[in-house]
Amino acid sequence: MSQVTEYSEKVMDHFMNPRNVGEIEGAAGIGTVGNAKCGDIMRMYLDIDDDMVVREARFKTFGCGAAIATSSMATELVKGKTVADALKVTNKAVMEALDGLPPVKVHCSLLAEEAIHAALWDYATKNNIEIEGLQPPVNDIDETEEFYKM
Ligand code: FES
Repeated sequence: MSQVTEYSEKVMDHFMNPRNVGEIEGAAGIGTVGNAKCGDIMRMYLDIDDDMVVREARFKTFGCGAAIATSSMATELVKGKTVADALKVTNKAVMEALDGLPPVKVHCSLLAEEAIHAALWDYATKNNIEIEGLQPPVNDIDETEEFYKM
Protein backbone atom coordinates (compact mmCIF):
# COMPACT_ATOMS: atom_id res chain seq x y z
CA MET A 1 0.00 0.00 0.00
CA SER A 2 1.38 3.43 -0.86
CA GLN A 3 1.89 5.96 1.92
CA VAL A 4 -1.23 7.94 2.64
CA THR A 5 -0.99 11.39 4.11
CA GLU A 6 -4.64 12.39 4.04
CA TYR A 7 -7.89 10.67 4.79
CA SER A 8 -9.31 8.81 1.82
CA GLU A 9 -12.85 9.41 0.66
CA LYS A 10 -13.84 6.06 2.12
CA VAL A 11 -12.42 6.97 5.54
CA MET A 12 -14.32 10.26 5.46
CA ASP A 13 -17.50 8.47 4.40
CA HIS A 14 -17.29 5.89 7.20
CA PHE A 15 -16.41 8.62 9.69
CA MET A 16 -19.29 10.90 8.65
CA ASN A 17 -21.80 8.06 8.08
CA PRO A 18 -20.63 5.18 10.24
CA ARG A 19 -22.36 1.85 9.56
CA ASN A 20 -23.69 -0.41 12.30
CA VAL A 21 -23.40 1.99 15.22
CA GLY A 22 -25.07 0.82 18.41
CA GLU A 23 -25.51 -2.26 20.53
CA ILE A 24 -26.96 -5.74 20.05
CA GLU A 25 -29.15 -6.84 22.88
CA GLY A 26 -28.14 -10.31 24.04
CA ALA A 27 -25.14 -10.33 21.68
CA ALA A 28 -23.33 -13.65 21.33
CA GLY A 29 -20.02 -11.89 21.90
CA ILE A 30 -19.03 -8.50 23.24
CA GLY A 31 -15.50 -7.15 23.26
CA THR A 32 -14.14 -3.92 24.67
CA VAL A 33 -10.64 -2.65 24.08
CA GLY A 34 -8.89 0.60 24.71
CA ASN A 35 -5.69 2.39 23.96
CA ALA A 36 -4.27 3.90 27.14
CA LYS A 37 -2.04 6.26 25.18
CA CYS A 38 -4.85 8.20 23.48
CA GLY A 39 -7.67 7.11 25.81
CA ASP A 40 -9.89 5.85 22.98
CA ILE A 41 -12.23 2.93 23.63
CA MET A 42 -14.12 0.61 21.29
CA ARG A 43 -16.84 -1.91 22.06
CA MET A 44 -17.86 -4.52 19.49
CA TYR A 45 -21.07 -6.57 19.57
CA LEU A 46 -21.41 -9.71 17.46
CA ASP A 47 -24.50 -11.77 16.82
CA ILE A 48 -23.44 -15.28 15.82
CA ASP A 49 -25.81 -18.03 14.68
CA ASP A 50 -25.73 -21.79 15.26
CA ASP A 51 -23.58 -22.28 12.16
CA MET A 52 -20.99 -19.96 13.71
CA VAL A 53 -21.67 -17.26 11.14
CA VAL A 54 -21.62 -13.59 12.17
CA ARG A 55 -25.12 -12.36 11.39
CA GLU A 56 -24.89 -8.88 12.86
CA ALA A 57 -22.10 -6.63 14.07
CA ARG A 58 -22.43 -3.30 15.83
CA PHE A 59 -20.02 -1.03 17.61
CA LYS A 60 -19.67 1.90 19.92
CA THR A 61 -16.45 3.85 19.68
CA PHE A 62 -15.40 6.66 21.94
CA GLY A 63 -12.50 7.77 19.88
CA CYS A 64 -10.96 9.60 16.98
CA GLY A 65 -12.30 9.75 13.44
CA ALA A 66 -9.99 7.01 12.20
CA ALA A 67 -11.12 4.73 15.03
CA ILE A 68 -14.75 5.34 14.10
CA ALA A 69 -14.13 4.76 10.39
CA THR A 70 -12.18 1.55 11.06
CA SER A 71 -14.81 0.19 13.44
CA SER A 72 -17.49 0.94 10.87
CA MET A 73 -15.58 -0.85 8.11
CA ALA A 74 -14.65 -3.73 10.44
CA THR A 75 -18.32 -4.41 11.23
CA GLU A 76 -19.08 -4.41 7.50
CA LEU A 77 -16.24 -6.86 6.82
CA VAL A 78 -17.12 -9.40 9.54
CA LYS A 79 -20.83 -9.55 8.73
CA GLY A 80 -21.73 -12.80 6.96
CA LYS A 81 -18.36 -14.41 7.75
CA THR A 82 -17.77 -17.53 9.78
CA VAL A 83 -16.01 -16.90 13.08
CA ALA A 84 -12.86 -18.44 11.56
CA ASP A 85 -12.94 -15.93 8.70
CA ALA A 86 -13.94 -13.05 10.97
CA LEU A 87 -10.76 -13.75 12.91
CA LYS A 88 -8.79 -13.08 9.71
CA VAL A 89 -10.15 -9.54 9.42
CA THR A 90 -6.91 -7.84 10.38
CA ASN A 91 -6.24 -4.17 10.81
CA LYS A 92 -4.43 -4.32 7.46
CA ALA A 93 -7.54 -5.72 5.79
CA VAL A 94 -9.64 -2.96 7.35
CA MET A 95 -7.18 -0.30 6.25
CA GLU A 96 -7.04 -1.68 2.72
CA ALA A 97 -10.82 -1.64 2.53
CA LEU A 98 -10.67 2.03 3.53
CA ASP A 99 -8.00 2.83 0.90
CA GLY A 100 -5.42 3.36 3.61
CA LEU A 101 -4.82 5.52 6.66
CA PRO A 102 -2.14 8.13 7.33
CA PRO A 103 0.82 6.47 9.16
CA VAL A 104 0.13 8.31 12.42
CA LYS A 105 -3.37 6.81 12.40
CA VAL A 106 -2.43 3.19 11.76
CA HIS A 107 -2.60 2.40 15.48
CA CYS A 108 -6.27 3.40 15.49
CA SER A 109 -7.09 0.47 13.22
CA LEU A 110 -5.72 -1.91 15.86
CA LEU A 111 -8.64 -1.10 18.11
CA ALA A 112 -11.02 -2.54 15.51
CA GLU A 113 -9.01 -5.73 15.07
CA GLU A 114 -8.63 -6.25 18.79
CA ALA A 115 -12.28 -5.46 19.48
CA ILE A 116 -13.32 -8.18 17.01
CA HIS A 117 -10.92 -10.63 18.68
CA ALA A 118 -12.22 -9.70 22.13
CA ALA A 119 -15.83 -10.22 21.02
CA LEU A 120 -14.95 -13.59 19.44
CA TRP A 121 -13.12 -14.58 22.61
CA ASP A 122 -16.17 -13.68 24.66
CA TYR A 123 -18.35 -15.79 22.33
CA ALA A 124 -15.93 -18.74 22.44
CA THR A 125 -15.62 -18.61 26.22
CA LYS A 126 -19.37 -18.42 26.79
CA ASN A 127 -19.98 -21.36 24.45
CA ASN A 128 -16.98 -23.36 25.53
CA ILE A 129 -15.57 -23.67 22.03
CA GLU A 130 -12.13 -23.16 20.62
CA ILE A 131 -11.51 -20.94 17.62
CA GLU A 132 -8.19 -21.87 16.03
CA GLY A 133 -5.68 -19.07 16.23
CA LEU A 134 -7.70 -16.92 18.60
CA GLN A 135 -5.61 -15.48 21.41
CA PRO A 136 -6.88 -14.05 24.69
CA PRO A 137 -7.76 -10.39 24.16
CA VAL A 138 -5.59 -7.53 25.30
CA ASN A 139 -7.24 -4.76 27.24
CA ASP A 140 -4.83 -2.09 26.17
CA ILE A 141 -3.71 -2.23 22.55
CA ASP A 142 -0.81 0.04 23.42
CA GLU A 143 0.92 -3.11 24.69
CA THR A 144 0.86 -4.67 21.22
CA GLU A 145 1.30 -1.61 19.07
CA GLU A 146 4.98 -2.12 18.41
CA PHE A 147 4.27 -5.44 16.72
CA TYR A 148 1.80 -3.96 14.32
CA LYS A 149 3.74 -1.02 12.95
CA MET A 150 3.67 -1.09 9.15
FE1 FES B 1 -6.76 6.89 19.59
FE2 FES B 1 -7.15 7.09 17.01
S1 FES B 1 -6.09 8.48 18.28
S2 FES B 1 -7.65 5.45 18.29
